[in-house]
Amino acid sequence: MNRREFGRRALGGAAAFAFPGGRLLQAPALRVDGERINAHLAALAEVGKNPQGGVSRVAYTEADLRGRELAMGWMREAGLEVGADLAGNLVGRRPGRDASLKPLLLGSHIDSVPEGGNYDGDVGSLSAIEVARSLSAAGVTLRHPLELLIFQNEEGGTLGSHAISSGVPAAELDRVSQSGKTMREGIRFLGGNPDRLEEARRAPGSIAGYLELHIEQGGRLDEAKIPIGVVLGIVGIRHWDVTLEGFANHAGTTPMNRRRDALLVAAQCIQAVNRIVKSEPGRQVGTVGKLRVEPGAYNVIPGRVVFGLELRDLDDARVLHFYRLIRAEFERLARAGGTTIGFQETLASVPALTDPGIRRAIAAAAKGLGLATMALPSGAGHDAQELARIGPVGMIFVPSVGGISHSPKEFSRPADITNGANVLLHTLLALDAG
Ligand code: HGY
Ligand code: MN
Ligand code: MN
Repeated sequence: MNRREFGRRALGGAAAFAFPGGRLLQAPALRVDGERINAHLAALAEVGKNPQGGVSRVAYTEADLRGRELAMGWMREAGLEVGADLAGNLVGRRPGRDASLKPLLLGSHIDSVPEGGNYDGDVGSLSAIEVARSLSAAGVTLRHPLELLIFQNEEGGTLGSHAISSGVPAAELDRVSQSGKTMREGIRFLGGNPDRLEEARRAPGSIAGYLELHIEQGGRLDEAKIPIGVVLGIVGIRHWDVTLEGFANHAGTTPMNRRRDALLVAAQCIQAVNRIVKSEPGRQVGTVGKLRVEPGAYNVIPGRVVFGLELRDLDDARVLHFYRLIRAEFERLARAGGTTIGFQETLASVPALTDPGIRRAIAAAAKGLGLATMALPSGAGHDAQELARIGPVGMIFVPSVGGISHSPKEFSRPADITNGANVLLHTLLALDAG
């Protein structure tokens, strides 16, 4: 009987590990060091820190680089072989006992939105590092090779995970990111090579599975006082830049009935988004979160406005349904306001369902740890939805207090984070046991 079979029989299918000298470690006894995770979160929160709290660790900035350096150090301490792939994602690797098996992946991101919080992406990334470190400290080598990925520019459209799962079209590489650098410049800034992205691609079926721990970013777990969320699926997200061209003119001498005010039409469009998205029952959401006015002076009638439209739903067909309704209304408003209108799609992230077997493993791991669970969809986008194109994925949520995220007021309790990391650890062990 080999060691693995012995371990499996000793624990009825869960994993156990017999070590040289015969000491048997019961896998269910394995736990992460929650204090270390939370200390690392506090240290990472110093990188790109804002005076009002939270961080602006926007992808492709110096703060992003410093955050990555910090994470790489912790990945090395966890005993991982650390590098960056050609897409600029950080990758930590550890061989498994059976090199013929496909790798099991853990991951998330550490870039933030401008004036974001200290937990979005960070909790999953630092917990994944801690899981690797806990396994190493316990002398546990998985059957599968283990890979830990910290994806670049998740907030700018899951760019790093998209690059390895689907590739990035040239037009996308020339898009300007939140940092002011183009995606192409940003990938180079991080040490990747935008001219060789195809070599970073992972083929469908090339991974045994991907697990991501993340804060819920909504309030359902917090309101229900349930510590673990088992994610059913991740919404699709589509972005468009909408450009309104009116006529910049003197604000004092142009009569009110002779204006082609691009900002006035934009205001009517923004209200139309809210009205149309709420006009039908469902989970769909629509937002205009960014707007640029030109020339932008008290005494000039705005001649040009560019604003960002975002639509999300678990069903991409419904996203496109609402887009058609909204676009038709925008075109009507633009004509009535004497302006022209243009649309450019800048993101098309398709929805992804998680793997039922991995969902069961997450629920069983939580139960084994005495933690209640709730199954729920993710209203936020995640790298996991890109990885779902190349293999089975699962996501674990921990509560966001007050459901606040993408804000300096984002907060998750240290005990909840520790619970989530332990569920991540034991789900990984269960998937590895196969
Ligand atoms: O925008 C999102 O849903 C994610 O937090 N990037
Ligand atoms: Mn995130
Ligand atoms: Mn986010």
